[in-house]
Amino acid sequence: MRVVIEPDYEGMSRKAAAMVADLVRRKPDCVLGLATGSTPIGLYKELIRLSREDGLDFSRVTTFNLDEYHGLAPEHDQCYRYFMEKNLFEGLKTRPKRTSVPDGLARDVDGYCASYEKAIKDSGGIDLQVLGIGGDGHIAFNEPGSSLGSRTRLVVLTEETITDNSRFFASADDVPRFALTMGVATILEARKCLLLASGIKKSKVVREAIEGPVTSQITASALQLHPDTFAFLDEDAADLLELKDYYKHVEKMYGEHGVGRRAAVAATR
Ligand code: GLP
Repeated sequence: MRVVIEPDYEGMSRKAAAMVADLVRRKPDCVLGLATGSTPIGLYKELIRLSREDGLDFSRVTTFNLDEYHGLAPEHDQCYRYFMEKNLFEGLKTRPKRTSVPDGLARDVDGYCASYEKAIKDSGGIDLQVLGIGGDGHIAFNEPGSSLGSRTRLVVLTEETITDNSRFFASADDVPRFALTMGVATILEARKCLLLASGIKKSKVVREAIEGPVTSQITASALQLHPDTFAFLDEDAADLLELKDYYKHVEKMYGEHGVGRRAAVAATR
């Protein structure tokens, strides 16, 4: 895993956005996996800026979102479809050709989840997956105990996630108890993964995910098995990393020798 540590949230967001933009320029019909939560908002703002000021063209891009609350209609202002419209799609100069967010109102849940997996496969598979990390170490909504071989399915949210996410709802009682989520194995099939984390509150779980054992108790740790994952962190989120200085040295060496970018580019081909 490449660990890229930036002084602040803005720098981290710009670096991650540059990697997404680079892929969109080289492969205009790429498939992006997208995430919600407050962390990727800076990345999406930068993509909007690049689309409006730099001509970054999303018109041939396909997107798949990681997850959605179960039981919320697409118009609900806390559902992830609404989040994506407001924080990315509506702002872009050219909207992606196709955008998919799991349907939180799907009736035949198992059938729907299988069809979501098939749609990802039929699109050619996800070229680059954006990820945040939950307070309990989850990626998407793969809560502790999720099989590392899990696929898209219905999950029960933990109390910690409900409390964390209640800040966006009127009260914790309003947070749905279930969600549809891509599985850990679905995520690991993406050709490239970008894990974003910011703030001191995430520092402990970031250390567990990056430097701890691979375990279904911290599903983000499964990214250690992925051959092309970049973790983009701000200094606060990186605070507890034991090898922090080494990760900085690695990025400096790649930068000085001009190979970092090429290595990143080659890996997304
Ligand atoms: C939710 C989402 C995750 C996201 C997490 C962290 O639980 N399902 O995909 O990574 O929130 O959110 P934040 O970035 O706001 O800390």
